[in-house]
Amino acid sequence: MTDPMKLAYEERGSGPVLLMIHGFPFDRRQWFPQVAGLADIRTCVAVDLRGHGLSLDEEPRDYSMDLFADDIAATLEDIGVDQADIAGLSMGGYVAFALWRRHRARVRSLILSDTKPEADSDEAKAGRDAAAKAILDEGMAKFHAGLGPKLMGDDPSADAVERIEQMFVDTDPGVAAAVAIAMRDRQDSTSDLGTIDVPTLWLHGEQDKLMPIDDARARAEAVAGARFIAIPGAGHVPTLENPDAVSTAMREFLTT
Ligand code: MLT
Repeated sequence: MTDPMKLAYEERGSGPVLLMIHGFPFDRRQWFPQVAGLADIRTCVAVDLRGHGLSLDEEPRDYSMDLFADDIAATLEDIGVDQADIAGLSMGGYVAFALWRRHRARVRSLILSDTKPEADSDEAKAGRDAAAKAILDEGMAKFHAGLGPKLMGDDPSADAVERIEQMFVDTDPGVAAAVAIAMRDRQDSTSDLGTIDVPTLWLHGEQDKLMPIDDARARAEAVAGARFIAIPGAGHVPTLENPDAVSTAMREFLTT
């Protein structure tokens, strides 16, 4: 049993806390445009999940979406706030669902981006095993060469491409392999959608090749009152591919 840890994070702004959770294999930088763009209305806190960025973990093991959610709760406790607006992108969304299950009193509102509630299929689980092995055998640059282009929309900016590649190669392979296995074993969150009773914004890149937008739209309909916004010109990482559209959508949601 691994104890929750207080995470490292980027903080900017003042007011109620907006805590942002990155996907795989990324870190706090995945949300940097929104940290800068929303600091006038929120205390923006972009965390590095355990083992990523500055949340160092010498010995990655026992990773799970539940443990990551417990780390978020411990971090909010340390910051000294009872509740936060919680934003999660892709795997960050899986963690947000776990946070909702385990610590829902901490969640003032939810912003989900390019994520899905379903657990992995058997085929996807086998893919995770292969990915973990490839990461350990061949490293993050090779992993990026295979997966990186699939994350992008049709015409990504050079800036987005570069930022995404940098986060891949900065991620410790031992951590990335452990996280791939944690995602393989994650719980199905589909039945949780109907229990979400906080304001929810669901964003999705129009050109997301990993998670088709029509599936996401249908899932969002299961959350009472959720707003769904398609982000144009973006694939799986809209926060970096079309940062202004994401920040505008979040600002409108958080201020109305
Ligand atoms: C992510 O961006 O976090 C990943 O695509 C999630 C996944 O592999 O399921």
